[in-house]
Amino acid sequence: MSKQYIYIVQSSKEIISCKIGITNDLERRLNEYNSMTGKSKETVYQYLFTCEVSDMKQIENDIKDEFRRLREEKSREMYFYNKDLFEDYVKFIKSHKMFTKEIFIKTDVQKEVVKIVKREKPTLKERGLTFKKVMQKAKQVKNDEFYTRYEDVEKEINMYDAEIWKDKTVFCNCDDAIGDSEDKNNINTSAFALYFIKNFEKLGLKKLICTHYAGTVDLFNSGPKGYVYTYIYTKTRTEEFKDSPKGYTGSFDDPISLKILNEEADIVCTNPPFSRSIDYWKILNDSGKKFIIISNSAIVLTESYIPYFKDNKVWAGFNEVYWFLTPKRELTRATGYWFTNIPIKDRPNYKRLKIMPLKKIPEKHKEYDDSKMLLVNNGYIPSDYKKPFAVSSNPILNGLLEKGYKLLQDKRYTPYINGEECYARALVQKI
Ligand SMILES: C[S@@+](CC[C@H](N)C(=O)[O-])C[C@H]1O[C@@H](n2cnc3c(N)ncnc32)[C@H](O)[C@@H]1O
Repeated sequence: MSKQYIYIVQSSKEIISCKIGITNDLERRLNEYNSMTGKSKETVYQYLFTCEVSDMKQIENDIKDEFRRLREEKSREMYFYNKDLFEDYVKFIKSHKMFTKEIFIKTDVQKEVVKIVKREKPTLKERGLTFKKVMQKAKQVKNDEFYTRYEDVEKEINMYDAEIWKDKTVFCNCDDAIGDSEDKNNINTSAFALYFIKNFEKLGLKKLICTHYAGTVDLFNSGPKGYVYTYIYTKTRTEEFKDSPKGYTGSFDDPISLKILNEEADIVCTNPPFSRSIDYWKILNDSGKKFIIISNSAIVLTESYIPYFKDNKVWAGFNEVYWFLTPKRELTRATGYWFTNIPIKDRPNYKRLKIMPLKKIPEKHKEYDDSKMLLVNNGYIPSDYKKPFAVSSNPILNGLLEKGYKLLQDKRYTPYINGEECYARALVQKI
């Protein structure tokens, strides 16, 4: 019988994704890739991981189920790629019952190339900076500049009961509300600001406030200048102000922004900067205000955020967000998800939870780790199991904690099977 392999391969032209495929002939497959030049002759494919397995189709299907959210298109086996995700794919494959042996794993990680634009400015030394510091800042800025698309804001907001907006002040505290004077088609304007301006009357809003952080400019210490934008519309008047108080940075933690948050805002809506996400979540939760925001879907299993989910202070919104816009308004992919503290009735994703007695869960989707902890996969949840068990982030995002189950600890759970580390999960228990 011919051997069976799973491989992860990546094109040099598309380092944000990878293909997870199956083959009976590993060598031939890579040769095919290298001769298949596609759109560009310079495209080179390389293996990131290869292994031998006993049932490649089964593993391939289980990968499709497990990493459904990270799959780019339904018709292709392309998945999002970054160092952490790659580790998760490999851990999943290696802890699968059909895994036989590893053949190759690429250990050096692709470095991110950050382009810094040269300007007529004082030297780094004159500005008291080191090259390392500027690189760190540049990287942060790059990761933060993922803009939300209008259709994603619309799709999520449409899911909530219209009543929640009535007479409310919406605060978008990481949002450029008016682009600049050259921006005739609103391409620099935040989709959140545009959405609430366009739907102000329909939602019955009282006020929209957007604060804009001028942080990117500050990369070269040109001095940030934030502003507060206020919009009010009634049948008889439209009021629109832009104010740049002296010394105001526009940061969500600037005293002026905090004052608006605590004293004026009713509902906060935005996609905050990735690099400040932990601080952002703390400030927002401490304010006690309602919110609908975008963050990375992986935070459900990230220790800084798990307590919010465990204490039922936050839960997933309705939708995932795959596509964002770069500052050049080109589409880029990331694994975003909406999070909120506004009650959600009849979550459509409940149907993805397969809650049933343990003995009805197919054998291949349940197993016990080295410490006898039950692990269930593919959305299967035991309805009659009294002890703790471990699930991936998907059931949590699909509303498991609203179905009579609770998170047990403030950290994630890392199972080991035959001494091999498996990908991280959350420990839950039926209440
Ligand atoms: C992920 S982007 C999203 C922008 C916009 N909210 C949207 O959804 O399109 C996050 C934005 O926050 C800005 N930002 C970075 N640090 C900030 C801070 N401390 N306070 C407020 N905004 C910040 C970034 O410059 C970036 O434009």
